[in-house]
Amino acid sequence: MANDDEIRRRIRTIPDFPKPGIQFRDITTLLLDAEGLKLAVERMAETVEGPVDLVAGIEARGFLFGAALAVRLGAGMLLIRKDGKLPGATIAEDYALEYGTDRIAIHADACAPGARVLLVDDLIATGGTARAAVRLLRKAGAEVTQASFVVDLPELGGANALRGDGIAVHALVA
Ligand code: PRP
Ligand code: ADE
Repeated sequence: MANDDEIRRRIRTIPDFPKPGIQFRDITTLLLDAEGLKLAVERMAETVEGPVDLVAGIEARGFLFGAALAVRLGAGMLLIRKDGKLPGATIAEDYALEYGTDRIAIHADACAPGARVLLVDDLIATGGTARAAVRLLRKAGAEVTQASFVVDLPELGGANALRGDGIAVHALVA
């Protein structure tokens, strides 16, 4: 769809955050709006294909949409956290961001082999984060075939790269 004006008008753009030249798409205004938040979660749920055992949300904003979707889908919630935050044994992946580098981790025993996992985040830009998340989940034995985002920044190529990794990518707005 990637064309949802009801969602688009509730997201604001903050120029030069966190660095000069970055147009930061701020979804906190969507979250503050009860109708907008409900619409976003409902529309993300509509794009989900087939049964899902676990929703994997990416820290931090992916947790918000991910947990709401997990409740709607009757799935569990798997946390993909910035490295160093999870208390148990972890597996991790490094990735490059539009504005830096980072490392994400999951608990090594977070999902059963073959678990059907839906990846969720607020936004995909370069795809570095989401692609690292897919590598991580696949390393853990998960079956990851779809990912859902509120915002896609298509000029940065992340959604297409993720499709190249065998993922059906859905976003509410581009
Ligand atoms: C943002 C966003 C995605 C990622 C997308 O998170 O929430 O996770 O960047 O960028 P990419 O497609 O280029 O990898 P950020 O790293 O700012 O972390 P935060 O949610 O903890 O603020
Ligand atoms: N994450 C990476 N790029 C971003 C952007 N332009 N706006 C919001 N979050 C982002």
